[in-house]
Amino acid sequence: MRQHVNPLSRVHQQPLELPAPADLFERPQQPLHLDIGSARGRFLLAMAPLQPEWNFLGVEIRRPLVEAAERDRLALASGNLRFLFCNANVSLLGWLGALPAGRLQRVTIQFPDPWFKNRHHKRRVLQSDLLEALAAALPAGGELFLQSDVTAVIEPMVALSEASGWFLRPPEDGRPWRADNPLPVATERERIVLAQGLPVYRVLYRRRAEAAHNPSASHAGH
Ligand SMILES: C[S@@+](CC[C@H](N)C(=O)[O-])C[C@H]1O[C@@H](n2cnc3c(N)ncnc32)[C@H](O)[C@@H]1O
Repeated sequence: MRQHVNPLSRVHQQPLELPAPADLFERPQQPLHLDIGSARGRFLLAMAPLQPEWNFLGVEIRRPLVEAAERDRLALASGNLRFLFCNANVSLLGWLGALPAGRLQRVTIQFPDPWFKNRHHKRRVLQSDLLEALAAALPAGGELFLQSDVTAVIEPMVALSEASGWFLRPPEDGRPWRADNPLPVATERERIVLAQGLPVYRVLYRRRAEAAHNPSASHAGH
């Protein structure tokens, strides 16, 4: 399996029409958790049975991983979980815009690919259009959870989130980084990093009711 795919390649720039929630889940009206870059899916495969009152959607740009995750999901007969192949920056924006108000309640972007070089920054998963679409779809209080083991990856995500003015870190979120994972399941990458005794950098945002006029007021302080 190739480690990275180039999201800017022509094939990954083709927009895909994603099914509406009504066509994805047994109980579409349940709150939705969207995991961007779900890879082999083990995080959501463990989350879905733990929180049956939520729906879970994983999106992933590497098709074979989505197919394998969907096979496991079908074997579990899990009506609150789906995995979709897409480039989140191309195919998710319109889909998010069409969601019923209040449906999306939690977004996770965990250990995204480390595109370090400046000339590769357009390959990073959290781009400003996607962040704006997430902010527009999340209700006030909705969660955006980011984690990575690479500061050069998480710092630009934090900078973008805070510059948008839409996201606030609650006081209980540690500074500069949140110490614990608020979710009951660690991702595949997270387990590897923790097993090596390496640090994980985490931030849990809540969507503000209104965009802040002075976004720097909510700065994480690093
Ligand atoms: C390093 S893996 C981490 C996977 C998982 N979140 C974890 O923590 O174990 C990052 C995943 O994001 C996916 N990804 C990167 N850019 C993406 C994009 N634009 N749209 C969807 N998925 C993307 C990659 O293919 C990869 O599987």
